[in-house]
This record gives sequence, C-alpha cells and structure tokens, in this order.
Amino acid sequence: MIKVSAPGKLILFGEHAVVHGRPCIVTAINHRMCATIDKRNDDKIVLNAPDVGIKNYKISLSELDKEYPKGARFALTAVKNFFRKYKVRSGLSIKTKCGFSSKFGFGGSSAVTVCIIKGLAKLFGIKISNRELFNFSYKTVLGIQKVGSGFDVAAAVYGGTLFFVTGGKIIERINVKTLPLVVGYTGIKADTPTLVKMVNEKKIKYPSLIDPIFNLSKEKVIAAKKALENNDLEVLGELMNFSHGLLTTIGVSCRELDKLVFAARKAGAYGAKLSGAGGGDCMIAVVAKKKRKQVEEAIIEAGGEPIPVVTNTEGIRIEKS
Ligand code: MEV
Repeated sequence: MIKVSAPGKLILFGEHAVVHGRPCIVTAINHRMCATIDKRNDDKIVLNAPDVGIKNYKISLSELDKEYPKGARFALTAVKNFFRKYKVRSGLSIKTKCGFSSKFGFGGSSAVTVCIIKGLAKLFGIKISNRELFNFSYKTVLGIQKVGSGFDVAAAVYGGTLFFVTGGKIIERINVKTLPLVVGYTGIKADTPTLVKMVNEKKIKYPSLIDPIFNLSKEKVIAAKKALENNDLEVLGELMNFSHGLLTTIGVSCRELDKLVFAARKAGAYGAKLSGAGGGDCMIAVVAKKKRKQVEEAIIEAGGEPIPVVTNTEGIRIEKS
C-alpha cells in the first residue's frame, strides 16, 4: 500500500500572461491532497474520492477507455496513461482525501494527478524523476483541460516558491521564507478554462493592446522575484497592486474580488490582488503581522472568508509505503 501527498498552490504573480509564454511565480501551500493506492487481486479499479462526490466507483481494466464521471477524470486518466506508458496493469483500490475545498481554486486536479502518478511509480517499482513526473502529469492534465500553463502541476511536484515559465520551460526555486499572506475566498467558483479562452480571444482581437500588458506582467514578475529574495514586503505589496490593475485591464477581475482587494488595502495590507484565473475563487494580500487581524476582519466585512494558508511548503512526498 502506498500513501502519497502533494500540496495545493497559490499563484502570486503572472496569471494569464503565463499561458502566453511569460513567467509567473507560484507557491505551494500547507493544504494537501492525499492518495492511498493498493493493488487488488481482481481486474477492477475502485475509486473513492468523497471530496468530489465519488463513492465506490468501480470499473474493470478493459473499461479504462470509457468516459469517467467528472470527479473521477483526473485520477483515472492518470491511471490509464500510466498503464499505457509503463506497460503495467493491475486492479487497484484508490482513495483520495483533499485537505482543501475544490471551490477555492487551490489546484486539486493537478495535485491528484501528480499523487496518482507518483504513487503508481512507487507501487510498481518504477524510478521517476521530478522532471519526468512534471512532464507526464502536465501532459495528463492538459489532455483533460485542454488549456493551462502547468504552474499548478509544478507546485505539486516541486513545492516551495517557483519562478515558472509556460509548460515548464523554466522551473526555478526562489530562495524565500514563508510569506505573510492573508487569503480571502469570494464564495464564487471561477471557471478557469472559460476565462483563459476569453483572454485568448481578446489577445487575437486586440494584440497590440494585450501583448504589452503581458510584457508588463513579465517585468513585474522579475521585480517580484527580486523583492521575494530580499523579503521586501512593501515592494511586494505594491507589485500586487500593479498586478491587480493589469488583470482588471484584461477583464478577469469581478466585483466580489475587487471588494475584497480594496477592503484589504484599506485595512492596512501592503498590497492585494486576485490570485488565479479571476472571476471568483481567492484574492491574496501581503500583510504585516500586526495588521493581520484587521485585514481578516475587513475581508469578512466585505463578504469574503479568510482562509488560513502557509506558503512555501514541501512538494510531493511519500507518506507510507
Ligand atoms: C489560473 O489559476 C491561472 C491561469 O494563468 C491559467 C494557467 O496558467 O494555467 C489563468
């Protein structure tokens, strides 16, 4: 029996532009996805993923090519792809347990994909480097979602805080401490693929307007990397404010995110921005210790929910084997 866990993520800077060849900064968080995998003596795969509504879902190995229910797609596609690539087969019992709600946008689908592939490699005694794990997991996630830069897969594999370029062209660890962040959930589930497509369409329609914004995003990410290395919270906050402005310009913020961002700034945060695709999910604010409580209260007052998060945590890890 193998038990494996991988962290969720928060994107700090560079969302959307990272889909178009620019860098972003992502950090792994203390909320983790966990998968337990065991071989069975029959030809069945039995999946329990209660967090996404999957209870005792059973298929035989010969049915792995069929359509799976929504909550089972990432786990079972990872199994199917793994069996194909490494030419192994076995009945399996798989249980997943997510330490965060799928509505927050913390990257549960990528984390579960990484967990299943790493867990199967361990179960079948196949050596797989972090780079191979990233490449294989990203390919699997992209096959299902069709869009995405892969930064969330990188966070699940490597952990820490990463400077990341589209598709993993660069994955570089940033030497940084845990960031004093306040995370505010809007109560709205963002639809990432739709927002990514919407930005794509804008880029096609207005290339001379959108491309310079993505170039600015790149400059801001480079500046933010420096500020992180220097632990300069004031500059980080200002760069977050710039970042929120750029994301608003490309049309991905919404009233609920803006309300929480402005409330956090007014309550004394160094700066605040949306984090992720926009249209809902979470915002982040960088906050001095003495201002944390008042920023959290301001977020509640503005209709949001503060989510306690520790950043810069460990990547994929075998919990039991
Ligand atoms: C979504 O969390 C971040 C986006 O940049 C999409 C991606 O990079 O895959 C909008």
